Amino acid sequence: MRVLVIGKGAREHAIIWKLSQSEKVEQIFVSPGNDGMRDLADRLDITEIKDIINLVRNYGIDLTIVGPEQSLADGIVDEFQKLNLKIIGPTRDAAIIEYSKVFAKNFMKKNNIPTAEFQIFDHIVPAIKYIRNHTYPLVIKADGLAAGKGVEVVDNYTSAEILLNQMMHQDKFGAAGKRVVIEEFLQGEEASIFAFTDGENFVSTILSKDYKPVNDNNQGPNTGGMGAYAPAVFPEKLKKEIEQSIICPAIKGLQRENRIFKGILYVGLIITETGPKVLEFNCRLGDPETEVVLPLLKNDLIDICLAIIENRIGEIELHWKAKYSVAVVLASNGYPSKYEIGKEIKGLENVKHDQDNIIFFSGVESRNNKLYTNGGRVMAVTSVANTIEQAIKNTYQNIEKISFQGMHYRKDIANDGLKKLHNKKNW
Ligand code: AMP
Ligand code: GLY
Repeated sequence: MRVLVIGKGAREHAIIWKLSQSEKVEQIFVSPGNDGMRDLADRLDITEIKDIINLVRNYGIDLTIVGPEQSLADGIVDEFQKLNLKIIGPTRDAAIIEYSKVFAKNFMKKNNIPTAEFQIFDHIVPAIKYIRNHTYPLVIKADGLAAGKGVEVVDNYTSAEILLNQMMHQDKFGAAGKRVVIEEFLQGEEASIFAFTDGENFVSTILSKDYKPVNDNNQGPNTGGMGAYAPAVFPEKLKKEIEQSIICPAIKGLQRENRIFKGILYVGLIITETGPKVLEFNCRLGDPETEVVLPLLKNDLIDICLAIIENRIGEIELHWKAKYSVAVVLASNGYPSKYEIGKEIKGLENVKHDQDNIIFFSGVESRNNKLYTNGGRVMAVTSVANTIEQAIKNTYQNIEKISFQGMHYRKDIANDGLKKLHNKKNW
């Protein structure tokens, strides 16, 4: 098969890496991709849906996998389906579960899916009135897509008022922030899970954990994710509970609204004292969770993709390596605010590269056979090992060999998982 992956980050690199192990895959294309993926995929630089479709036909591509949400929100799947071209991802109508937080919250309420209490506001005056009489912290969310930046936790009335003004009056997130969700702050540990679904049935992955704040101990502003590990350490029964109280009603609820969701449903959760609650649904694989989940997956990704398309996901059983994986994101100076690029990346040749030590690239470009940074998130350094301890150790040992000017990363990825494993009473 010839497969095209849409996207350019470490998530897409991980998808390509996994596809490259399939005997069924003869060639992989990526658009736009990055220069760190070159040994596994042929790069194409096209973004318009109609151009992608032409390319799929001209190159005889059998299957397309969509990484980022924007293409799904733009309706790439609808256009492919009109022409009977195989693609993994939901249609625009179903992708709304990610691109409108207002839709997602109302949908969860209607389907009794546990989530934070919330109110929706289209106008600033009632929103301000609401925050004046509320206890803090509160969480304010832009309705639309905002590249992972549209959510802020506010500790007091003044910060909430400033933020609402920026969003609803000053176009902080453009149209995406004109409508807001204001919700209850939930206490607990975060976790993520993916469900592969054909719109009727699903199979879910192991749980993983993404570390969003930029600094150790979850300090500093949120990023697109500074690292992840899997399987996240939680009691075994949690996954069943998430499937029953969240994933199943979500897929059935979408089906009832004629928004049949085929593809990957991502559930971002907080595990509270009263059980798992949904922070957000996404309509695609998560980043950096994909970089730790796919290295543990034993199944051929192509088998899963074809089962989604052919409505046979019920026949699939997922198999996992009995190991742990840890990924740490190396970021550019300044990230997640304005960051520097164009720095030479050194030492990659000294890092062990094998099935258990993998670098998934995102913001990189090559010039004269050298790799340079060209994004805020530069790469996810991943290790797989028999224990969390060893996976953490191997990841950080590999990182020590890599350098670029201004490089920063979190030093505590998966440490909480390790502690919990050593002290099961704290679950
Ligand atoms: P979201 O994009 O909705 O997943 O939100 C981004 C991040 O904000 C989450 O990963 C959480 O760390 C935090 N967050 C969002 N909603 C809440 C909430 N209701 N309570 C506590 N933290 C939240
Ligand atoms: N890891 C969060 C996301 O992919 O949206």
